[in-house]
Amino acid sequence: MLQVQDLSVSYGHASALRNVSLEINEGEIVAVIGPNGAGKTTLLKAITGLLKPKEGSVIYKDMVISKKPAHKILEYGISHVPQGRQVFGDQSVEDNLILGAFSIKKEKQKIQELMGREYERFPRLKERRKQLAGTLSGGEQQMLAISRALMSDPDFILLDEPSMGLSPIFVKQIFDTLLELKKLGKTIVVVEQLAMAALAISDRAYVLQTGEVKLHGVSKDLLRDNSLVKTYLGSA
Ligand SMILES: Nc1ncnc2c1ncn2[C@@H]1O[C@H](COP(=O)(O)OP(=O)(O)OP(=O)(O)O)[C@@H](O)[C@H]1O
Ligand SMILES: [Mg+2]
Repeated sequence: MLQVQDLSVSYGHASALRNVSLEINEGEIVAVIGPNGAGKTTLLKAITGLLKPKEGSVIYKDMVISKKPAHKILEYGISHVPQGRQVFGDQSVEDNLILGAFSIKKEKQKIQELMGREYERFPRLKERRKQLAGTLSGGEQQMLAISRALMSDPDFILLDEPSMGLSPIFVKQIFDTLLELKKLGKTIVVVEQLAMAALAISDRAYVLQTGEVKLHGVSKDLLRDNSLVKTYLGSA
């Protein structure tokens, strides 16, 4: 469904990704794990058009998207839940959801349906729909960030550290949500610091370190013999 081919990204002269290649198949959950500064966020931003690669390409459903602007990539059905959630704090929950539907803004009925679906997924958001997003708890903001991304009705969702700063109960709820989305046929890439938990819910995984893919494979296999993963994560 998505191929990243020999992707290199730099910030000025500083290289952040070097010759990264990966492949995501339809309906999979793929985890991207790696230590701080490995280039995980850079990778997601390059896929969603927020950063332009220096070299290499991103291909989605047989279309080269690496030179397309972010709003086009969103229209193709790729949505991004950014690191640190980045909800619009001075806007209500509901307005955040409506902003998430920007790419389908003319389809009023569909927006209402999608919003109803998100309120079913996260009843807490429904209870708090008039509340300013900045006053939600961290876990609620993460729910909102996910729902906002789903308001464009994407086929392909990238999440950047959705568990960050959350209590175990919220982490479980977020991971369960990813499994439900997979059941609905969505394709998911999830960047995670909680490497073992991410391996447990994903089909395959890539380990990034200092801007390069060091290891990839079937998550179950990486979990069974996790010494290599731990070596790259620096937590052996
Ligand atoms: N806007 C920027 N300008 C300059 N350098 C940057 C910028 N954003 C990221 N970098 C650098 O690129 C490298 C990769 O950063 P990135 O944010 O992709 O890592 P990460 O794997 O997501 O880390 P973390 O787990 O801490 O979120 C780091 O060395 C970082 O300092
Ligand atoms: Mg990051």
